[in-house]
Amino acid sequence: MKSIIPIFALALLSACSAEQPPSEPPLAAASDISEALEKAAVANSNPDEYFDTDTSVLTLMNAIIQPSALELWQAVRYVVTADGVEEDIRPQTDEDWFRLQASAISLIEAGNALLIPGREMDNAPLDPDYPDYQYQPEEIQALVESDAENWRAYIKQMQFFTRTTLETIEEKDLLGLMETSAAINNACQGCHAEFWYRPNN
Ligand code: HEC
Repeated sequence: MKSIIPIFALALLSACSAEQPPSEPPLAAASDISEALEKAAVANSNPDEYFDTDTSVLTLMNAIIQPSALELWQAVRYVVTADGVEEDIRPQTDEDWFRLQASAISLIEAGNALLIPGREMDNAPLDPDYPDYQYQPEEIQALVESDAENWRAYIKQMQFFTRTTLETIEEKDLLGLMETSAAINNACQGCHAEFWYRPNN
């Protein structure tokens, strides 16, 4: 293995330096790259140590999952403003379709991020006025550990319906897009009902 690493490192360096003016040294030192590659070699045997899981579940929800899902859910809608102006919103340009495609891909990949073990729940209760409404972070953590199978099942469900939605986007199938993207919500709700909200709330 050791003898392979410098060859990879050289290949990477020359790929990088092609982008640089000739007078500038390559940005990454060879030692950094071989260190990264050595870590990559252990990735298969020890994924928890390899991936950066510092982003909490809550941050993933707010930063990637919710905005991506909203793009899909709001892609086709009919808006009447206060002045009575009617707007029929739907993807039209290639750019619109590309943005939807990117959102679906982000949601699928966020599912992969959720599948990596070792992510923390956030420390503060989300709504201090209603502390009983939802589980505390340590309770969520314990639930995820005790029922990891269901946790993963909701993620796979989210990915499945998003993958189906992606197919409708690639076919520019408006009706299909509306139906399949709505189905993604079952996975969100199901997981929140089990792992986030206390029963009877
Ligand atoms: C595998 C389980 C799971 C799935 C699937 C899931 N969530 Fe979540 N979500 C959670 C958990 C757990 C929390 C609370 C995390 C915490 O308190 O640290 C949360 C929190 C959130 C929040 C935070 C709200 C706030 O008050 O800050 C939003 C928004 C959210 N989820 C949206 C979504 C959407 C939209 C989907 C589907 C597209 C989704 N989630 C799918 C588990 C999930």
